[in-house]
Amino acid sequence: MANHEAAICKGILLAGGSGSRMFPLTHAVSKQLLPVYDKPLVYYPLSVLMLAGIRQVLIICAPEYQQAFRRLLGSGEHLGMQFHYAVQPRPEGIAQALLIAREKFLGPGEGVGLMLGDNLLYGHGLQRLLAQAVRRKQGATIFCYPVKDPERYGVVYFDSSGRPVQIVEKPSRPRSRYAVAGLYFYDEQAVRVAAQLSPSARGELEITDVNRWYLERGQLHVEMLGRGYAWMDTGTHEAMLQAANFVAAIEQRQGLKIGCVEEVAFRKGFISAQQLLSLARQIPNPYGRYLEQVVEEETGLRGQAA
Ligand code: DAU
Repeated sequence: MANHEAAICKGILLAGGSGSRMFPLTHAVSKQLLPVYDKPLVYYPLSVLMLAGIRQVLIICAPEYQQAFRRLLGSGEHLGMQFHYAVQPRPEGIAQALLIAREKFLGPGEGVGLMLGDNLLYGHGLQRLLAQAVRRKQGATIFCYPVKDPERYGVVYFDSSGRPVQIVEKPSRPRSRYAVAGLYFYDEQAVRVAAQLSPSARGELEITDVNRWYLERGQLHVEMLGRGYAWMDTGTHEAMLQAANFVAAIEQRQGLKIGCVEEVAFRKGFISAQQLLSLARQIPNPYGRYLEQVVEEETGLRGQAA
């Protein structure tokens, strides 16, 4: 999809938080920079924004880790991307990301895709869903996924005809299994909605309150992610391990990588084969060799088709 067709061209990657649930792992390293098998956790959500066709991303992190994120991701030019950086001094809520973005990143009238830096989303047909979401000129799009422990998440309730009727943050007795994944697409109204929020009982500007605002106005599109998808939020040690095992299993079986931002940049046409090759040569290990192989296979295929 050419980017000019998209209503949403900018993204936010929210990678702040204190990481206290993962101490001591996260005493000296941001959670979103921890490894998930063969790459840093943040590559996975970043690749999702890129798959949506988004090329300008604001990376928000805690002040003490900004240098580390910059070192890993730089200006984004090597990926055909533009990265901007901002800090969130304290984790005062996911919706605060919209207010931080308003300062220097989002222009008037611009919508945005927001992804949590610790979420991993993977599955056949994801690009189509993402393309639909960025093309929507009005309203918000969220993604729901059935889980065994909905009480840990934002949860959507549906009426008998399958229409979303309520959205609740961490209900003690959930009446639905459908958790809201950490990926949200908003039109330009979201920034104004976030600015009007008050902190919840846990002291946060809740993204669920933003989503409820859209729901109450009939402007919330809820996409169901069925069995064919994997959504992982890496919120606990077990979840981190499960995510790493999942990535390892798929990658070893297929010989194809998940969340490989360099590959995504190439396949989306953000960088050329030559640029991918030069990235590959800076990584003298199997990861780099994989990138070389992607170029060889792709250019070989193009050669055959010609
Ligand atoms: O993972 C999806 C869930 O994320 C949604 O289902 C919930 O509706 C949503 O509220 C959120 O749940 P939590 O509030 O439990 O998320 P957590 O506090 O774990 O934060 C998620 C990620 O966002 C985490 O990597 C830290 C980062 N974060 C969080 C907050 C509150 C920030 O960078 N800044 C923040 O202020």
